[in-house]
Amino acid sequence: MTRDIIIAPSILSADFAKLGEEVRAIDAAGCDWIHVDVMDGHFVPNITIGPDVVAALRPHSSKVFDVHLMIAPCDPYIEAFAKAGSDIITVHAEAGPHLDRSLQLIRNLGKKAGVSITPATTESAIDYVLDKVDLVLVMTVNPGFGGQAFIPAQLEKIKNIRRMIGARPIHLEVDGGINAGTVGSVVEAGANVIVAGSGVFKGGNYAENIAAIRRNAERARAAA
Ligand code: DX5
Ligand code: ZN
Repeated sequence: MTRDIIIAPSILSADFAKLGEEVRAIDAAGCDWIHVDVMDGHFVPNITIGPDVVAALRPHSSKVFDVHLMIAPCDPYIEAFAKAGSDIITVHAEAGPHLDRSLQLIRNLGKKAGVSITPATTESAIDYVLDKVDLVLVMTVNPGFGGQAFIPAQLEKIKNIRRMIGARPIHLEVDGGINAGTVGSVVEAGANVIVAGSGVFKGGNYAENIAAIRRNAERARAAA
């Protein structure tokens, strides 16, 4: 199934001293979703934001809040992120022993459920949860920081997961090192949701950066 190209800027690369303004700016610049990176200093070596910040940002945009939880354990915090106004909540397959339960918890709270895998994790880790997710997020860098280099070995994984998804209505998202230069290869491999942090925020012209990523994504889609 072919899904629309969705551009989701990661606010990890925004100015944290004016996050509300930054969310309004990427909304006005034509993004589709807003990607929120939640890090705990335990699952990943960095600490970012919690549910109160998501709730504070919620009134600043009506676009989809795509919340990427890089935290372990995740289950104790899922309800708080749901109440904060997340639309999609993505958990890592590596974050705990009971992925199936975490995904059920998200859906039971009326939210879309996503599963993510880090670069070293094989796609078979999500074989048995595919009927319980609305989104699969393939990390194309090791999670924790913005501005890292794209890992090309993930392209094969993206292709394999695209095949595994088949006709299911599941978004295939990529995150890490994606910019106007790398987006073509991930779209060609089968991704349809493009997260970009530094690729959108660098230089300050968010509309132009989003448009350049979208243009190259659509071009790769048309050629595929
Ligand atoms: C990485 C985060 C990403 C990050 C991407 O751990 O999950 O969302 O912000 O940043 P760039 O696009 O700069 O690699
Ligand atoms: Zn992310």
